Amino acid sequence: MSNWPDRRILDLFGIELPIILAPMAGPGTAELAIAVSEAGGLGSLPCAQLSTDQVRAAMIQMRRATRGPLNLNFFCHKPPQADPAREAAWRAQLAPYYAELGLDASAPLPAASRKPFDADFCAVVEECKPDVVSFHFGLPEADLLRRVKASGARVISSATTVAEARWLEQHGCDAIIAMGLEAGGHRGYFLNADMSRQIGTFALVPQVVDAVRVPVIAAGAIGDARGIVAALALGASAVQIGTAYLFCPEAKVPAVHLRALKNAADDGTALTNVFTGGPARGIVNRLVRELGPLSAAAPPFPLAASAVTPLRARTEPGGSDDFVNLWSGQAARLARELPAGELTAILAKEALAKLARG
Ligand SMILES: Cc1cc2nc3c(=O)[nH]c(=O)nc-3n(C[C@H](O)[C@H](O)[C@H](O)COP(=O)(O)O)c2cc1C
Repeated sequence: MSNWPDRRILDLFGIELPIILAPMAGPGTAELAIAVSEAGGLGSLPCAQLSTDQVRAAMIQMRRATRGPLNLNFFCHKPPQADPAREAAWRAQLAPYYAELGLDASAPLPAASRKPFDADFCAVVEECKPDVVSFHFGLPEADLLRRVKASGARVISSATTVAEARWLEQHGCDAIIAMGLEAGGHRGYFLNADMSRQIGTFALVPQVVDAVRVPVIAAGAIGDARGIVAALALGASAVQIGTAYLFCPEAKVPAVHLRALKNAADDGTALTNVFTGGPARGIVNRLVRELGPLSAAAPPFPLAASAVTPLRARTEPGGSDDFVNLWSGQAARLARELPAGELTAILAKEALAKLARG
């Protein structure tokens, strides 16, 4: 455990292994976080799709089960203005699917289920005192951020460019997640929305390391010990791993999603906005193929999701993944189906062995 070449993140978070379980809204569970935390990594709980009561209950469950440090993760996107014209255009795009499935295209839609960090979430942080709070899509407003830091939590957030990394450091982040283009799920960008200019992990990590003084966590297609060692060689102090943990029994991955992950090819994913309005990497399926991958008609994040939800609800029970967001990074094939604690321990052991060989 003391053989890691860089102790900055280990000391900052009080963890034994430089492995952070990526927070993954949907599949991420308290059980998954507990397993990684118990193995010596940082367990993370994604809160964007949870109520404050659910976050509180999960935190109590996790604190009972592990003494290891824990991370609560929140989105901090600006809630978009409702735009009835754009909503109508999006519903018109989806109308043929509603007709095909015999759904009423004019029925009221479910509300968007991804909530940004707010005063209520902040009160839960102050009460539960997680060791780390991570944000996606920048940082919350200054007053909320001050309260999070005053609670004693270390604050981290994702950067997809060097400019975003510098901005996060200037605004008080204790470490930066350098999120390469290969990563699964939503791009964490907040300054440059031009997806054609996003950067891969191999180019992003060393440039962020050179640009900031705080430690850097590499994320994006790190699926085995080779990726961990490469990230450390590029100057990262730790890695954040998402897709590889989706294969663990503690993850709550819908059956159709797991099937797609198990069959995923290296070139099977794309950046798409057709599920939520925000660009995210997922396995290409019918909706992505037919309306995307990036659609100008999709309302801004997270509003596009509302009109897709009924299509998914109608088709997924029959085993179809046509309308399911199959988030995945580009390295799903590297994953091994193991319990999360075992996976964490093996990744660390194999990485250390490679480092020792030099
Ligand atoms: C299914 C899924 C859901 C995700 N949800 C979140 C989230 O809620 N919050 C967040 O900060 N990042 C989220 N991400 C991004 C991850 O935190 C991480 O950056 C990414 O998984 C790393 O790339 P990899 O999947 O190739 O390992 C998600 C990723 C996936 C695959």
